[in-house]
Amino acid sequence: MKFKDHHIISMTSFSRDMIDHILQTAEKMEEIARGKRRSDLLKGKILGVLFFEPSTRTRMSFETAMLRLGGDVLNLGSVDASSIAKGETLADTIRVIDGYADSIVLRHPKEGAAHLAAEFSSVPILNAGDGAGHHPTQTLLDLYTIKRESHLDGLKIALAGDLKYGRTVHSLCYALSHYGADIKLISPDELRMPKEIINDLKSRGVHVTETDAIDPAINDVDVLYMTRIQKERFPDPAEYQKVANKLMISVETLENVKPELKIMHPLPRVNEIKPEVDATPHACYFKQAFYGVPVRMALLALVLGVIE
Ligand code: CP
Repeated sequence: MKFKDHHIISMTSFSRDMIDHILQTAEKMEEIARGKRRSDLLKGKILGVLFFEPSTRTRMSFETAMLRLGGDVLNLGSVDASSIAKGETLADTIRVIDGYADSIVLRHPKEGAAHLAAEFSSVPILNAGDGAGHHPTQTLLDLYTIKRESHLDGLKIALAGDLKYGRTVHSLCYALSHYGADIKLISPDELRMPKEIINDLKSRGVHVTETDAIDPAINDVDVLYMTRIQKERFPDPAEYQKVANKLMISVETLENVKPELKIMHPLPRVNEIKPEVDATPHACYFKQAFYGVPVRMALLALVLGVIE
């Protein structure tokens, strides 16, 4: 399967075979990701890192992935300390970094920014989140987590929280449609999954139901995927206050769930999962954050063409 020089912009362009290939490649990278084995697979390669929005996991796991494979990173650092503060456009910035790096990972607040960057780049662009648009590498690590900690085929999953603005849940739903998932959507009325996405999923044969209550919806699922209410995407702060803290998980909420239920969250969490849940066998979100490393190692090695 050929990934060399591919831009990774959105999950909509991924077939099930492509996803399976990335997940299998990531599995082979896990020992290196844990620091148990050394690798020089990406020696001599440079990853340009451009983050126009805050990040901990995506930025650092991309950098870890590159370093664990013997490559180097070139981080733009603070946007305020770069020439973007003087008014340089994204297109020009990409054209310049294209000459310094072998691949570029980009996070940007504007939907479509990664697509635009790809038009001006001769090296692969990896979309690390474009506004409320896509976050495909998060989806791939979510799928990897489900595969490692539960099962992908015939999965029963509940997605809870901000299903309107949460880009991770949009991409994840499309990806799960390849695996015949049964999807429950749990959100306050104001933050429901966009209708066009639900219609798309149904036309792909996915069984989708909607509710505004966690209990009893989570009692028969294999995975509960919680999300943060995306405060920064609300045009009106008063609207945010109306829905903040509406969906929360505590140990009591979990009294009737399946013993093998896994709780995932792309993180950062605010207060949608109480810290007491961390000590239960259901908590899977910190493992999920680690799995970003082998998945991003696999993606980098594939788009840089050092493996197929
Ligand atoms: N999940 C995620 O994208 O986390 P960061 O915003 O910290 O990168």
